[in-house]
Amino acid sequence: MHQVITRTDEQTQDLGQQIGQILDSGISIALTGDLGCGKTTFVKGLARGLGVDAGYHITSPTFTIINEYPADKNLRLYHLDLYRLESVEELAYIGFEDLADYDAVIVVEWPGLLMKDRYLFNLELTFAWDSEYNRVISFFAYGQSGTNVLSKIFS
Ligand SMILES: Nc1ncnc2c1ncn2[C@@H]1O[C@H](COP(=O)(O)OP(=O)(O)OP(=O)(O)O)[C@@H](O)[C@H]1O
Ligand SMILES: [Mg+2]
Repeated sequence: MHQVITRTDEQTQDLGQQIGQILDSGISIALTGDLGCGKTTFVKGLARGLGVDAGYHITSPTFTIINEYPADKNLRLYHLDLYRLESVEELAYIGFEDLADYDAVIVVEWPGLLMKDRYLFNLELTFAWDSEYNRVISFFAYGQSGTNVLSKIFS
């Protein structure tokens, strides 16, 4: 299993940045793990690696559900936080199903309802703490495109 341990906020951002630099087409990534374990921190780095303009302040879309950022290579970053979502039907209102029509990098915090609805993510990153409060980030790939990206990340 692929795992990375980060000791600081910056290291988690750097990991996100490296992955953002590798991505060159659409992908969906589930970020799972408890409150405060570093999911949004990771997305900040991911945005930087994807070339999202530094003028954008990356904040968690806890109330807006989704934030959209133009990125390099004709990609768009969609950052979702479903913590406050009550039913998966609510996602229809924000046009979630249409996102796949774009070259979309979709990252989802609190993806439980989508997973229950059998939405297929390409990658899942689980965030956890170790005994010294470092972050242990584990990577799981689903399907061929997830596997391809994972092998690029860890090559
Ligand atoms: N190694 C680390 N990686 C990431 N964040 C860290 C690390 N060490 C300390 N932190 C701190 O932990 C907090 C992580 O907050 P963050 O908003 O990224 O969590 P989250 O998983 O998105 O939480 P939520 O579920 O509430 O959205 C930040 O305050 C960050 O500075
Ligand atoms: Mg968050």
